[in-house]
Amino acid sequence: MTNTADLATRYRRVLPSFLSPYYAEPISIDRGEGGYVWDLEGNRYLDFFGGVLTTMVGHDNPDVTAAVQRQVAKVMHTSTLYLSEPMIEFAELVAAQSGIPDARVYLTPSGTEANDAAILLATSFRKSSQVLAVRNSYHGRSFQTQAITSHSSWKSTALSGLTVQFVQGGYRLRSPFRDLDDEAYTDACVNDLVQLLDMTSAGDVACLIAEPIQGVGGFATAPDGLFGRFQKELANRGILFISDEVQTGWGRTGDHFWGYQAHDMVPDMLTFAKGVGNGITLAGVVARAEIMDSIHVLNFSTFGGNPLSASAGSATLRYVLEHDCQANAKAMGERFEAAMRPVAEGAPWIAEMRGRGLMWAFEVCEPGGIEPDKARTNEFHEACKRHGLLVGKGGLYGNVIRLAPMLNVTTDEIDEGVAALTAAIAEI
Ligand SMILES: Cc1ncc(COP(=O)(O)O)c(C=O)c1O
Repeated sequence: MTNTADLATRYRRVLPSFLSPYYAEPISIDRGEGGYVWDLEGNRYLDFFGGVLTTMVGHDNPDVTAAVQRQVAKVMHTSTLYLSEPMIEFAELVAAQSGIPDARVYLTPSGTEANDAAILLATSFRKSSQVLAVRNSYHGRSFQTQAITSHSSWKSTALSGLTVQFVQGGYRLRSPFRDLDDEAYTDACVNDLVQLLDMTSAGDVACLIAEPIQGVGGFATAPDGLFGRFQKELANRGILFISDEVQTGWGRTGDHFWGYQAHDMVPDMLTFAKGVGNGITLAGVVARAEIMDSIHVLNFSTFGGNPLSASAGSATLRYVLEHDCQANAKAMGERFEAAMRPVAEGAPWIAEMRGRGLMWAFEVCEPGGIEPDKARTNEFHEACKRHGLLVGKGGLYGNVIRLAPMLNVTTDEIDEGVAALTAAIAEI
């Protein structure tokens, strides 16, 4: 019979070396239920990462599982060449929730393709190949989305057909403006954006793409309102704003349904992926009709809007709305923060605990400063595993521990996670 060690050997033999499983001794995940997963040997872990914020409302969520099983038995694939109710119904639900007026929804299999489509739309609509992104961003693995990624450890190429410039704002801890208060920091970033546009752009820029909270970047969080201020400057020049909600959507931030809502603005487009299929591949871009319909040739994604994915999406979204998962994210996030803030403040090597709702990060540095400490981050990660807790890593220097519990996480699970983290921190 297969065991975990066996799988590790086979993984390394057949998968590319740029994929790297977590932990010195990688773990297998054989099955999951609610907030927990089990490995092949039957060890149980509390899952506070959800396969990178993607299992969102619990493993084997009965509503989602039933919807998928019903759809599997009916038809698994149609394509957009035919009318498929699951696809249309899911698009209707997303359009209604998006906050974008006269919304059109283009469905894709991954977040990368959603962002690629958004950039295609913006550059076509604006007839410009100039794009702005935010420093410390991650937007995907394809050729174009790598060009708008500002993360040297995740950037496989500098080649691109786009002219991309990166603005200040998303990652405050390592910004030259970090010592300013919220208002002054926001002013400094807005002034920098304006100067960049005035001094370095060649006329009409197509768009700015931003993550309201930078995911891979270690849940780096700009002050509320910053992106709204950016949008005012951009809108004056006709430049579009794309909100990459791949990690921040569906109520995860607690205070809002979408990350952009913390910034007192409505974007021209938003992109989504990860959690909305609760583990089934599903992503897309929402845009105003005038932008979406600016493509005048055929543009087709074989798996985009697949009925299986779409039925998982509608079931997940309905679950989120009917169970008010946003309110749960807020309440559980507050409980988590109240318990963890004093523990983090007592560890001199945790330079910053940041986040909101059910997105929390600990940036690990040399005590007393912001020199990244990757070795200690790995120790922290391993210690969490020993205490039965799965968490993620991230950050520009791989020195951030990230947590994203399920949106329907319970108080007992939060308390169990806090106990595991506290014990792990004490051990280091
Ligand atoms: C903010 C953000 N955008 C886009 C992507 C790319 O999504 P995918 O991995 O589904 O292609 C990711 C993936 O981590 C992400 O975090």
